[in-house]
Amino acid sequence: MQGQLSTHDTVISGARVVTPAGAAQCDIGIRDGRIVTLGTDLSGNEMIDATGLIAMPGGIDSHVHIAQPSGPGIEMADDFASATRAAACGGNTLVMPFVLPDEDQSLREATVAYLARAEGQCLTDISCHLIVKSADPVTLGQDLPALIAQGLTSFKVFMTYEGMRLKDSEILQVMDVAKGQGALTLVHAENEDAIEYLRDKAERAGDTAPVFHARSRPVPVEREATHRATTLAEVAGVPLMVVHVSNGAALEEIRRAKDRGVKVYAETCPQYITLTADDLDRAGFEGAKCVCSPPPRDTHEQAAIWAGLEQGAFDVFSSDHCPFRFADEKGKDAPGARDSFRNIPNGIPGVETRLPILFSEGVSKGRISLEAFAALTATNHARIYGLTNKGALMVGKDADIVLWDPTLTKAITQGDLHHGSDYTPWEGFAVTGWPVRTLLRGQTVMENGAPVGAAIGRHIARDKVAA
Ligand code: URP
Ligand code: ZN
Ligand code: ZN
Ligand code: ZN
Repeated sequence: MQGQLSTHDTVISGARVVTPAGAAQCDIGIRDGRIVTLGTDLSGNEMIDATGLIAMPGGIDSHVHIAQPSGPGIEMADDFASATRAAACGGNTLVMPFVLPDEDQSLREATVAYLARAEGQCLTDISCHLIVKSADPVTLGQDLPALIAQGLTSFKVFMTYEGMRLKDSEILQVMDVAKGQGALTLVHAENEDAIEYLRDKAERAGDTAPVFHARSRPVPVEREATHRATTLAEVAGVPLMVVHVSNGAALEEIRRAKDRGVKVYAETCPQYITLTADDLDRAGFEGAKCVCSPPPRDTHEQAAIWAGLEQGAFDVFSSDHCPFRFADEKGKDAPGARDSFRNIPNGIPGVETRLPILFSEGVSKGRISLEAFAALTATNHARIYGLTNKGALMVGKDADIVLWDPTLTKAITQGDLHHGSDYTPWEGFAVTGWPVRTLLRGQTVMENGAPVGAAIGRHIARDKVAA
C-alpha cells in the first residue's frame, strides 16, 4: 500500500478489484505497463474513474483458432486483426491460437509464417500453441524441441479428424517429447473410428442434416477417448489438458484419472453450458451455425458441466473460437454441406461472448464467485500455460485489466460484435454484465464497446511446463 505521493502513468480508482486473495475496493496504480501499486488515494497522470465497476484480470482465452488452414476451399472468418479486435471488445487481453502446418510445411516453417502474419496486427497479446498432426522424426526430434525452446510450450494432439488424428502410439511419442522438453500436451478426445461408423450409418439412412453431426458424435465417443487420453498420460507420466469437455461422463473420467494421481487439467466452453444438440436442429440449414466438435449435448449434460464449474473440477473456461461465415461457400455453406453434415466446417465463433456468457450465467446468477470467474477466465490459463507476467491483478504483473459493468444488460447480437463471422450462435441471448473497458499493459484497447488505438499486441513467449 502507498499513499498520495506515488506517481503513476495511470490510476484506476473506485473499482472493486478482484485479486487472487479476494475482491476489495482499491485503486490500481500502473507504471510502464505494469501494476506497481494496489492502494488508496493514488495519483497518476491519467485517472480512470471506475466507480461502480469491477476490475478483473483481462481475459486470457487459451483456446482460439485464427486464420488456421481449414481444408480445400474453406477459410476461417478471422485474421489476427479481426480476432483480436473481437477479443479486446469481449474483455480479453491475450488469446492463444494454434499453429497448424499447411500441406508440405514443417511445424517450424508454419510457426515462422504464422507469427509473421500476426506481426503488427493484434489488439491483444497472443501466445501460440502448436498442433502436432504428424509424429515424424523431424517434428518430434527437431521442430518441437526448437519451438519449445522459443517459448511455444504447449501442443495439441487430435484423436479425431482424418488427416489430423494420431494413433495412440504416436500420442505417446509426442507426450515423451513434452516430458523431455517441458511442454504441456492438449488433447481433443473423441473416438474417430466410432464417429466414422456412426457417420457412415447416418448417411446411408439419409440422415444428413446438421443435427446428425451431434448424433454421430455421442457422449460415449468422447468418454472413451477421454479415458484413453488420460490413460496415455498416465503411461507416459505427463500432465495433460483435456480441452472442450462437453459432458459429465467425460468429466468423470478426468476425476478418476486425478484420483489415480494423474495430473489432468480440464477445459470447458460456453457452448456446453448454453447450447444443446437441438440448436443443430434449427429450421432450414440454420443448425449449421452450431456445428462444432464435440457437439453441444442436452440440459442434463449442461447441468453436469455446471456442477463441475461450481466444484472446481474445471481449470479453464475458453471459447474454442473457430469462426466461419454462415452465408459463404468458404464457410458453413461449403460445397456439399447441405447434402451432408460431414462437409460442414466444424467450429463456432465465441471469443467476444465467452466472458459475458460466463459472467451472466455464472456470477450474475450466483453460481460462481468473482474470484472463481477470474481464475477460470484468466489466472489459471496464465499459471497452467506459463504466462508468468499475466493473469492476475497483482503488483509486478502486466497491467492487463478489464473493467466490468455488472449491471449492464443486453441481448447478444451480431450487429454489436467485431469478429469476422456473419453470425453468432447466441443471437438474442440475454446477459447481465458486460466489459466496458480493456487495458493491455496499461493502454486502453477497448472503451464502451469500441476498439481503441493501435495494434500494440505482441507474441508472448512462455515458460516451460513442469512435468
Ligand atoms: O469444432 C471445433 N471445435 N473446431 C475447432 C477445432 C477443435 O477441434 O478445437
Ligand atoms: Zn478440438
Ligand atoms: Zn442427457
Ligand atoms: Zn478448438
